[in-house]
Parts: sequence; structure tokens; C-alpha cells
Amino acid sequence: MRLRVLRLRDARTLEHLILTNRPWLRPWEATLPDAPMSFDIKAQIRGLLRQMDQDQGIPFAIEYRGQVVGQLNVANILYGSVSSAIIGYWVAPEVAGRGITPTAVALTIDYLLNQLGLHRVEIAIRPENTASLRVVEKLGLRFEGTKERYIHINGDWRDHYLFAITAEEIRGGLLNRWMQKKVPAMKYPWH
Ligand SMILES: CC(C)(COP(=O)(O)OP(=O)(O)OC[C@H]1O[C@@H](n2cnc3c(N)ncnc32)[C@H](O)[C@@H]1OP(=O)(O)O)[C@@H](O)C(=O)NCCC(=O)NCCS
Repeated sequence: MRLRVLRLRDARTLEHLILTNRPWLRPWEATLPDAPMSFDIKAQIRGLLRQMDQDQGIPFAIEYRGQVVGQLNVANILYGSVSSAIIGYWVAPEVAGRGITPTAVALTIDYLLNQLGLHRVEIAIRPENTASLRVVEKLGLRFEGTKERYIHINGDWRDHYLFAITAEEIRGGLLNRWMQKKVPAMKYPWH
């Protein structure tokens, strides 16, 4: 698999993936509290690229065998005394279960901590999203607690588990730690 920055000309492919996989994505999709969902994917990509120009985020396309199969978005990048970012992701159901997302997350976290010099990366996941919980579990991200009614998802404010990792926890790199089967045993609420 490969990660690269999203381009405007990915709009058609992404639109196809998103519209043909509504039942797969909808339960986990961010919505707006007082506006309908927009499927103007070009406008969404433009917005994400604008955030990248302002050093606030990085929208990645996830490619698998040369095809775009999903998205990984880095948002809320803060520098200085906080130096952190959050990550969100999805892949098409046809490629689920091959470790594409944990690989993409590990690559991204290594990039954010080692190249951009950030200190902390966070991922928020609905407690019901067992597939996504497996992603952070595989990588050994630390469980930090529950943020109640944190994000508007699929039409309502939803509780989220918060996971994080900081640079000093993975000096040799997150991807390396996972590949070398050195992920420490973590305490998670569902254990
Ligand atoms: C969550 C998600 C990104 C995981 O991506 P992935 O690349 O499949 O990740 P993995 O290969 O590590 O699989 C993670 C878990 O998904 C589950 N899974 C595997 N294949 C699956 C399939 N075909 N259908 C549903 N779930 C599947 C398994 O529990 C797997 O854990 P395991 O490897 O221990 O069996 C993906 O399921 C997805 O895009 N879901 C919809 C959107 C979403 O939930 N985004 C995250 C919001 S926080």
C-alpha cells in the first residue's frame, strides 16, 4: 500500500467509493449538527487542501495495488507547546481486513512525529466500532478515556474513546515496533 496527498482529480473515484458504500461508512461518518451532509467531494478535497496550505492538516489517499481504496486525514495540527494532531480514516469494504489501515496509521504517525516534529497524535473512536478499535489495539495506542458526546456522527453527538501516542513512547518508530511484534500489552476497557 501507499500513502500520498489527495488530489482534486481523486474526486470521482472517492465519490464512487463513498456513494457505493453508504451502509459501510455511514455509522462512522462525521455529520453536521444543523445541516445536511454534502456529497460535493471536490469541495471537500478543496477544503482539505486549503487546510494543508495553512499547515493545519494533511489529507492522504490510501492506495492499494495502485488504486485509491480509502482516505486517511490528519487534522487539527497544532505546533508549539501542544504539537499534536488527530487522525481519521476509512477504507473500502473490498480491501478490509488486510492490515491496510494500521499500516497507513503507523506510517502517518511516524511521519508526523519524526518528520514534522509533532509530539502527540490522537485517534477518537466510537466504542461500537470494533474494527477501528482493532486498528489502535494492533498498534498499541494508549487508551486515555471517554470523551462524552464528542463528535457529531451519523446524525447525533456520540461518545468516543480517545487513544493517543507520544514521541517518547515510540523512539524506534511505530511501524517498526508493530512489524517486529514489540507492541506492549495495553489495558483497554473492552478487555
Ligand atoms: C475501521 C477500518 C478503517 C479498519 O480498516 P482495515 O484496513 O480493515 O483494518 P484491519 O485490516 O486491521 O482490520 C481491522 C479489523 O476489522 C475487522 N474486519 C476484517 N475484515 C473485515 C471485513 N471484511 N468486514 C468488516 N470488518 C472486518 C476485523 O475485526 C479486523 O481485526 P483482525 O485483523 O484482528 O481480524 C475499516 O473497517 C473501515 O473503513 N470501516 C468503516 C469506516 C470506519 O469505521 N472508519 C473509522 C472511524 S474511527
